[in-house]
Amino acid sequence: MKPIRVFLIAGARPNFMKLKPVYEKLSAHPRLHVSIIHTGQHYDYNMSRVFFEDLNMPQPHHYLGVGSDTHARQTARIMMALDELFDGENPEWVFVFGDVNSTIAAALTAIKRGIKIAHVESGLRSFDMTMPEEINRILTDRISHLHLVTEPSAIENLLREGHSPDTIKWVGNTMIETLISILPDAANRFEDLKKKFGIREKEYALLTLHRPSNVDDRKKLESIIGAIKPHAEHFPVIFPVHPRTLRKLEGMDTGRIRLVEPMRYLDFVSLQMHARFVMTDSGGIQEETTYLRIPCLTLRENTERPITVEIGTNILVGTEPERISRYMERAINGQLKLRARIPRFWDERVSDRILEHFLEAL
Ligand code: UD1
Repeated sequence: MKPIRVFLIAGARPNFMKLKPVYEKLSAHPRLHVSIIHTGQHYDYNMSRVFFEDLNMPQPHHYLGVGSDTHARQTARIMMALDELFDGENPEWVFVFGDVNSTIAAALTAIKRGIKIAHVESGLRSFDMTMPEEINRILTDRISHLHLVTEPSAIENLLREGHSPDTIKWVGNTMIETLISILPDAANRFEDLKKKFGIREKEYALLTLHRPSNVDDRKKLESIIGAIKPHAEHFPVIFPVHPRTLRKLEGMDTGRIRLVEPMRYLDFVSLQMHARFVMTDSGGIQEETTYLRIPCLTLRENTERPITVEIGTNILVGTEPERISRYMERAINGQLKLRARIPRFWDERVSDRILEHFLEAL
């Protein structure tokens, strides 16, 4: 019997760790012929390649090299390059991950050719249509055949939007499966990081900011930085800066906040594990801190991952400077009251469940 051709399509930093366990599980199955496609949405060494190295992943089978541009042009370029690739390769299924432009571009290209789509991390909703990711999520789900979800809120959202229950599978979080697999290596990295940054365990905070709503408007970014700066005078704050944010920070007074390059995955996880608390506007970091039971102050007004707030360590602080400052003070003083439970299915068997449901769907 001819194996079924499956493409796993990724493009941006948070996609790669979600893809890895799916690749390992599916590619080991004799009925499946699996290839990794990298769109090239992220292309800097430390936004892309370093993740393949840290995760011991094979090089992508196809690299489309689309690079950065406006949303429309980036999405269009991914679609054109993929369309050409599909021509020669004829996959029967594609897997897409998360909510980035590569996700919707791949899904849209596939559906127009009658190729079936499995969406990993389906159903999350922030209910904020000014977020590019929200648009990507809703549209990708609308045209997907298999909705693989990380938390119960996603099931409710998909059902409310009219998706058939047969297509919705609660499998858990592949990013957490990857996280669990690298924890020992990440822990080992801390000795070096302590020296490199001159920090001690639990005696620093970790900060990331890259949402367009927080960083594209310089005034907004300045007000967030302004709230954090006074605390960084007496409590170390390490800030690995996303390239998008770096451009906006030029010439801004960031005080003693420690600006550093985007970090490799193992180092970033190690810094999360040993921090007193984390501040972020990222989606994935809200989940990783919940798994690691590290307090997370989310500098956004909403989250598409409500389980991290309901049972995890996440607090939706928002972006108002007084609130940021108040919560930082509590976090520094160890006064945050958190439940710190780990959501169901955030474990080592997520990709097993995905394989099982995928084989059923064939
Ligand atoms: C994208 C995702 C976002 C995700 C984030 C993680 C979309 C709509 N957004 O946002 O959901 O949380 O990735 O990082 O897909 N750049 C570089 N080097 C790179 C990549 C980007 O310098 O390797 C710079 C470019 O100037 C680019 C800017 O960063 O214009 C933004 O990159 P882009 O991929 O458009 O969006 P992100 O902000 O990274």
